[in-house]
Amino acid sequence: MSPLLSSHDCQLLTKQIRAVTGLYFSSERDSDVQRMMKQLVYKLGETDGHALFRRLMALPMTAPEWQSFIDILTVGETYFMREPRALSLVESEVLYPLIRSRRQNSRKLKLWSAGCCTGEEAYSLAMLIDRMLPDRRAWEVEIIATDINPSFLERARKGVYGSWSFRQPGTGYQAQYFRRVGENYQIRPEIRDMIRFLPHNLSDQGFQASAAFLYEFDCVLCRNVMIYFHPEDVQKITSRFEAALSPGGWLVVGASEASHIHQQYFQAHYYPQAILYKKTAQPSIPPVVAVPQSLQEAEPVEAESDHTVSYAVSTSDRSAEPAAQVASHPPQDALSDCQEAITLDRLNPEHYRKMATLHESRQEGHEAAMAWRRVLYLNPADCMAHIQLGHLQQQAGLTAKARRHYRNALTLLREMGEHSPVPHSDGLHAGEMIEMIQQLLDGDLNA
Ligand SMILES: C[S@@+](CC[C@H](N)C(=O)[O-])C[C@H]1O[C@@H](n2cnc3c(N)ncnc32)[C@H](O)[C@@H]1O
Repeated sequence: MSPLLSSHDCQLLTKQIRAVTGLYFSSERDSDVQRMMKQLVYKLGETDGHALFRRLMALPMTAPEWQSFIDILTVGETYFMREPRALSLVESEVLYPLIRSRRQNSRKLKLWSAGCCTGEEAYSLAMLIDRMLPDRRAWEVEIIATDINPSFLERARKGVYGSWSFRQPGTGYQAQYFRRVGENYQIRPEIRDMIRFLPHNLSDQGFQASAAFLYEFDCVLCRNVMIYFHPEDVQKITSRFEAALSPGGWLVVGASEASHIHQQYFQAHYYPQAILYKKTAQPSIPPVVAVPQSLQEAEPVEAESDHTVSYAVSTSDRSAEPAAQVASHPPQDALSDCQEAITLDRLNPEHYRKMATLHESRQEGHEAAMAWRRVLYLNPADCMAHIQLGHLQQQAGLTAKARRHYRNALTLLREMGEHSPVPHSDGLHAGEMIEMIQQLLDGDLNA
């Protein structure tokens, strides 16, 4: 099928899409942009595709043409209790301490699901909180959920979901919080009323001014949204999240989005399950250490990198943490247990996987990389090990090696088929993972 736009116009449109929505398509994805433009022409019943292109280049985001285009451009992949390991950290490390400290005084919680899609993430938060607060009526719980796509928000407000939204096996929340309506399930009104669904564009330059409701959050969840943005835009958006958070507030991003979070605004807290970002009291000095020393020694550094390396938080940063935060790093005991398990069962990759995540959470990049290599030695088809090792190497500036591991992962994922769940990925599907890796390869690693 012949393309609708010339390659020059396609590039102009791609730039305009990024300027208006933040969504970034590398030049390798020109054919996707062309396809989506054709979809828009068809959707709007246009006869002159080029005239529509010219209108898109001139019109603001509020124009109906853009609103329809946004519906085509955005990815509506979401489900309840997505990435459950990260959510359980939100429960234990964010919500539980907040509830404990506020029970005697303000009894307020304020959370934001940014890029909430059709509402599953925001409702998951609301259900978690409802379970944690038997006296919820005595609390002021405000959950704001925003998205750029108005039709997603409309579905979120209705709160009616098919069984595909419940693909993550849960702990009885479906029976507790939903009412069956024919083939579907409707969220109970007492949970629906905990959330305000509002339109908001994270890429809007006037982010805060245009959205007076975005302030003093205890926690912002923005997961699986910034993977679609250019790394430079991610930096800008995370600085806006910082402004919208209360001191000590938390930012939670998706598993693959951590590499772009700027440590200037946040202090990373490492757990075996995920990384959480805490707003620092004052902007901290960007870490000087760009490449973890130990990893440089292990492998030659191929390129100078000025990236912030998330596991290489400098010793001085760490010493500024209160003791309780430092204690959140897994103790040596866990490593010893793991070592013992390896001694008894040397050919089991799962012990090395555990060891790798423990080392990562202790910011021991070299040791983590060694453990991931052992996982791969025992099972070269372990997709997550390729991704994790690639991630460590990317952080260390070993871009060619990182690319190689990401590409291996892509090959394995494509073989799996896009709807297959990826082992050890917290329920992500191969299609989502492919998209994320492609973004990484198109972004920082596109050397
Ligand atoms: C893949 S979904 C993620 C949904 C949910 N956060 C999750 O993790 O399941 C990505 C969402 O980001 C939204 N999005 C994309 N660009 C956006 C922007 N500039 N501002 C706000 N939301 C945006 C999309 O409309 C879509 O609903």
